[in-house]
Amino acid sequence: MSYLIHATSLSIMLSYRHAFHAGNHADVLKHYVLGLVLAHAAQKNKPFWYIDTHAGAGMYSLDDGYATQNREFEQGIDQLLLADNLPEPLVNFVTQIKSFNTDTTTLYPGSPMIAQQHLRPDDKMRLFELHPNDYKILLENFSGARRQAKIEMQDGFAGLKSLLPPTTRRAVVLIDPPYEDKQDYQRVVQVISDSLERFATGTYIVWYPLLQRPEPNEMIDALIALNAPNWLKVKNAATKK
Ligand SMILES: C[S@@+](CC[C@H](N)C(=O)[O-])C[C@H]1O[C@@H](n2cnc3c(N)ncnc32)[C@H](O)[C@@H]1O
Repeated sequence: MSYLIHATSLSIMLSYRHAFHAGNHADVLKHYVLGLVLAHAAQKNKPFWYIDTHAGAGMYSLDDGYATQNREFEQGIDQLLLADNLPEPLVNFVTQIKSFNTDTTTLYPGSPMIAQQHLRPDDKMRLFELHPNDYKILLENFSGARRQAKIEMQDGFAGLKSLLPPTTRRAVVLIDPPYEDKQDYQRVVQVISDSLERFATGTYIVWYPLLQRPEPNEMIDALIALNAPNWLKVKNAATKK
């Protein structure tokens, strides 16, 4: 199978490009947790939707392009690829990542590609990506899966609202904005609040950065104040906060 990977240039209103960060420690933690949640959802014999509000390009090269500028993947997926004695769930994750690679290419999958491997034929994907270049690449990468994956170049926050509740009454939602615009922090709280009203039994995964500034913690406090019945906060072990 061949993938269209992230290319470099475009005049941009949206400055964030996920390719710079592909496979870094935070990406790996997010994708590992995503895989565990989807594997759990797939245990039940009823179809579900996977909704990715900020899907990215779907596949990234670690050999060339943006990822090679800061080589963030060296402190992320490379550490897992080199490690011995990983616990079984992590071995499964590393095996999944390796399955995208050959002897001559080093690719790292984005959340939609990770998710796709967990879906069954009746499960569906709804993907939103606002950057025109990444949208085009994403569309191309899922060209063979048009029946299962619907992809829109639309604001993912608004897109999520329009999908809930899903017809399946089961969904896993990944909300993974760039947070370059500080409003993303409030928009996450707003969209979770709204989603819990529309579809309280959904599973929502929110990625956020750990930064020395107030917005991330304020967002978490506001999310906790929504009183969702069950929630889990996951952090990298090396993180002090
Ligand atoms: C952190 S990246 C997503 C990475 C992806 N979820 C993954 O794990 O592979 C955030 C993406 O959201 C896109 N984006 C920014 N604002 C958006 C919006 N309002 N709606 C949808 N996509 C948006 C960016 O272009 C970028 O590709």
